[in-house]
Amino acid sequence: MINTKLISFRDICDPSRKQYFGHLTPIECGQEIPFEVHRIYYIYGVDQEARRGYHSHQDLEQVLICLGGSVKILIKTPDEEQVVQLDDPTKGLYIGPMIWREMFDFSQHATLLVLASKHYNEKDYIRDYARYEQEAKQYFQKG
Ligand code: TYD
Repeated sequence: MINTKLISFRDICDPSRKQYFGHLTPIECGQEIPFEVHRIYYIYGVDQEARRGYHSHQDLEQVLICLGGSVKILIKTPDEEQVVQLDDPTKGLYIGPMIWREMFDFSQHATLLVLASKHYNEKDYIRDYARYEQEAKQYFQKG
């Protein structure tokens, strides 16, 4: 889907001793992550009934990684929508500008790590869907 993509990270593990040593996944800016990371936050302890997000960003780029458990992410533009299930710490969902997102179906102990391209700025948020739809139509028309 436009302005989004699924990114695969390395899984360093010795298959013969996986049960013992587990996995190691490295992430480097400029390699797996297509922007400089200026902020990191994580979401956890979310009730299974809860739905978070309900916003878009004007400029911000993010990569969402579910480190444990699972969560579903609805990504949406005025023209298309998709639900991506994150349940693998070697996968990251890149979400670029002007994508509406909602996070739901958090499993017990789900931990969602987010890497962001900029510091927190409430002015970059669009939290009203009607305003989002109007601005996104213009944004994607200009290409
Ligand atoms: P918000 O982004 O609305 O969370 P979600 O979309 O997951 O429901 O943020 C919730 C609150 O946390 C809001 O008051 C802003 C604050 N916040 C920060 O102070 N810094 C941050 O980096 C983020 C992401 C949120």
